[in-house]
Amino acid sequence: MSNLEGKVALVTGGGSGIGRGVSERLAREGADICIADIDLEGAEETAALVRDAGRKALVVQANVASLEQLDKAVSACVSGLGRLDVAVANAGIGRGGSVLDMPLKDWQDQLDINLTGVFLTVQACARRMVELGNGGRIVCISSLAAELVGERSWSYSATKAGVRIMVRGWAQELGAHGITVNAIGPGVIDTPLAAMLAGEEGGAIRTGLEERTPAGRAGKPGDIAGLVAFMAGPDGEFMTGSYVIMDGGLRDASGRRAPSADDPRMQEMQKLMAQGEARRAKLQALIDER
Ligand SMILES: NC(=O)c1ccc[n+]([C@@H]2O[C@H](COP(=O)([O-])OP(=O)(O)OC[C@H]3O[C@@H](n4cnc5c(N)ncnc54)[C@H](O)[C@@H]3O)[C@@H](O)[C@H]2O)c1
Repeated sequence: MSNLEGKVALVTGGGSGIGRGVSERLAREGADICIADIDLEGAEETAALVRDAGRKALVVQANVASLEQLDKAVSACVSGLGRLDVAVANAGIGRGGSVLDMPLKDWQDQLDINLTGVFLTVQACARRMVELGNGGRIVCISSLAAELVGERSWSYSATKAGVRIMVRGWAQELGAHGITVNAIGPGVIDTPLAAMLAGEEGGAIRTGLEERTPAGRAGKPGDIAGLVAFMAGPDGEFMTGSYVIMDGGLRDASGRRAPSADDPRMQEMQKLMAQGEARRAKLQALIDER
């Protein structure tokens, strides 16, 4: 397991959740890691995990909404760790709310970090990768929310759908420089950001999630990290411009579980099926005839 021996990865938002899992996993694959996070405390904790895995870690405080701060992080990475091969644009926030009263600030912060922040991370890292001339791998963390939308999550979904589509344009331009760009759409992953969706081990929210999810459990940062490692490693060479969902099957789960026999919905379904039987039989006969 040393697919990334001698490589250097920069992970935004590496101080918690998915970014921490990605940093640890890429380190176990042999990469040195630059953790760029607005929160130094979390980033230092991740750095300790990277060092435990036997790799070098460098922590840089940076807000992904600022190109200036990202440029500094990239420069620190290249001067401190010697190169830049992999960039993971992972930092993100969630600000749900009603269309009737969402404060403009919540909307703007989410756009600045989740959408502009990914663009700026890719711009800062890709410019340096082009300059260094060794190619590169860029992975952007979008979300299953790029496909699904709720009455309080529409603004988050808008940012994540933006990321999903942007990588396809970037992949076209950067291919000439040997740089791949892909996006991942995680489902519900057990991190501080998704605490309300993932619930606690053994609690009602978690149990409901486990029942709805075909894979039978909440996602873990390590699940997403494994996919990032694939995209960043030798087997990912031919993958670019892709958006890959990793959600334990949750996207289509609303149609998964039929109601139990004593559920009133089941009785209604049976009544409707019986009512439609004559029409179905007539139609089938016509189909068979022709
Ligand atoms: N957890 C999930 O279920 C889930 C699902 C789909 C997508 N995602 C996405 O995965 C990414 C990581 O989320 P997570 O669940 O690990 O969240 P998290 O809150 O555990 O970690 C996010 C990290 O990003 C950092 N960060 C926030 N704003 C920043 C900024 N402006 N500049 C630099 N760093 C900043 C935080 O300090 C934190 O360390 C996000 O983009 C999120 O939208 C998460």
